[in-house]
Amino acid sequence: MFKGPFSFSGNKSRIYKLYLQNTISKFSRVHEPFIGSGVCLYNSVGGGIGLDIDQNVVGLHNALSIQDFPKMVLDKYNRFFRDPEGRKNSYYKLREDFNKSWKEEGLSSNNLDSLYILVQHSFNSLLRFGPNGFNVPWGDKKFDISRIKEAQRIFLQKGIEVTHGDFRELDLDKIDRQRDLIYIDPPYIASKYQYGGWTQQNDIEMFEWISLLDELGYKFILSNTLKHRGVKNELLHHFSEGLHTKVVKMTYNAWSARVKAVEKEYGTIEVLVSNFEL
Ligand SMILES: C[S@@+](CC[C@H](N)C(=O)[O-])C[C@H]1O[C@@H](n2cnc3c(N)ncnc32)[C@H](O)[C@@H]1O
Repeated sequence: MFKGPFSFSGNKSRIYKLYLQNTISKFSRVHEPFIGSGVCLYNSVGGGIGLDIDQNVVGLHNALSIQDFPKMVLDKYNRFFRDPEGRKNSYYKLREDFNKSWKEEGLSSNNLDSLYILVQHSFNSLLRFGPNGFNVPWGDKKFDISRIKEAQRIFLQKGIEVTHGDFRELDLDKIDRQRDLIYIDPPYIASKYQYGGWTQQNDIEMFEWISLLDELGYKFILSNTLKHRGVKNELLHHFSEGLHTKVVKMTYNAWSARVKAVEKEYGTIEVLVSNFEL
């Protein structure tokens, strides 16, 4: 299993490994309209299309199309991280250098290599931006160039396409109703700490869009929470009637660790909802 090109809060590597691997291997291509780090897409047989509303996420995927990208990353790493004793310092210097360039020209082929290095070393491997740029503190992580090389190999070999946009912009004409799967992994409404912007209205519109996919004959799997910290997700409950629902047992340690007030996840029921038997 490939962990995805970069670490990402809410990535589905554990769910993929325990619940989705078998199913996904039966489809030619897997499309992720909420790609994040795209664990399911990168592990699919023949790649697919990804979409994300976050430009930084899209930039990190598309950097892999630059032929000598791993070399660029390695050169920059060697330039900034010369002193093994001063890695923390090097991280903050690189962050400063990245943010200067990011403010001048946004994400570009000049600074994406830095962002890969930063996200590999950031606290809890977080990818987070504020008005002044990337703002995650040092996380004392190891540098792993092989992960970037492997990501690029998969990206190019499988012809993965990632574009910036809303999930509804997924180009259905490029998707085969029988052989392809649409894996839908939105921000969860109940996990308000995770993706601030997602609202109940977003959920309503997403369920309408998924119902349309279903009517048109596309195969889908939706990841979501039926209950979160004891609160039932009535909308999802209603939506999933007549569909297949599988309960997955997971706890989000990394997420819990980041939110000081939350010691432990409890009362959470995470599910996979699909229009075929898993
Ligand atoms: C739970 S994460 C996906 C994680 C992914 N499955 C993985 O393995 O890493 C949800 C993603 O949806 C994106 N997103 C939020 N609103 C969106 C929208 N309206 N359209 C497309 N993507 C959106 C977020 O930026 C985030 O990357």
